[in-house]
Amino acid sequence: MNRIGRNDPCPCGSGLKYKKCCLAKKTSEEIGDVKNLYYQRHKIQLKDNGAIEGIRAAGLLALSTLDVAEAIIKPGITTDEINTMVHDFTVSHGAVPAPLNYRGFPKSVCVSINEVICHGIPGKRVLADGDIVNVDVTPILNGFYADVSKTFFVGSPGDDAKKIVSVAKECLRLGISMVRPGNTVGDIGWIIQKYAEGQGCSVVREFVGHGVGLGFHEPPQIPHYGRKGNGIRLVPGMVFTIEPMINLGDSTLRILEDNWTAVTADGSLSAQFEQTILVTEDGCESLTPFDL
Ligand code: MF3
Ligand code: CO
Ligand code: CO
Repeated sequence: MNRIGRNDPCPCGSGLKYKKCCLAKKTSEEIGDVKNLYYQRHKIQLKDNGAIEGIRAAGLLALSTLDVAEAIIKPGITTDEINTMVHDFTVSHGAVPAPLNYRGFPKSVCVSINEVICHGIPGKRVLADGDIVNVDVTPILNGFYADVSKTFFVGSPGDDAKKIVSVAKECLRLGISMVRPGNTVGDIGWIIQKYAEGQGCSVVREFVGHGVGLGFHEPPQIPHYGRKGNGIRLVPGMVFTIEPMINLGDSTLRILEDNWTAVTADGSLSAQFEQTILVTEDGCESLTPFDL
């Protein structure tokens, strides 16, 4: 069978090129179908080029924020100092820190030290030599959200700190490597769980990646564990975070009295890296890219 070329006359007899006639119609109808289907079935809003540009700009601001945070991190500073820096930097760039007052969260950034898995509330705690500290920033710039985090060493890390940070980083890299149209949400969690558990570490279940961009936490959820081929199929225009929280010990967690801070039940170290990922026609693009 002879395939119709994009520049061939359209088989409908309009006299137009195929690409200007039925090919274009068919594609836009198909795109419309997927967009409607994903919204109706899953409440997932596929992002158009305008939204992608907006999220990318928020992502670049988020990355600069992490760079400035990294520059002030050293033994002796408090987590409140990181909060002040993130807050002022965000606001001075015309953005709003999404965490502030989000479901009652009292600060502008999550800062999670050692056994804190996530949602650490900045305060008087002082960073000590050998600590690991995750800084998780989410600016809202012109209405668009990007969500990114890194775990930093404070001073010189011990062997446990090096191990958990390296495993968590590799988990994010592997998760991202599964993102392309046709793969599923389950493929992402499957590869992360396989690697983390293979390294003798564990994957937190209670917190997951999420759609992001027009809001802070949108559908779908992106678990960092799961089975190959399970879950929603990835399509171009989806934007979501991958943010595996990996523990050196058991995956069980406990929430502190403040109703936010999640810590490992066994007191073991926990590390996390997060990026905001766009599914493209032929793979993916990080909208908050950094080396992994
Ligand atoms: N940034 C976190 C995430 O990756 C969410 C923090 S919610 C907050 O999804 F209220 F604690 F800021
Ligand atoms: Co997130
Ligand atoms: Co985050």
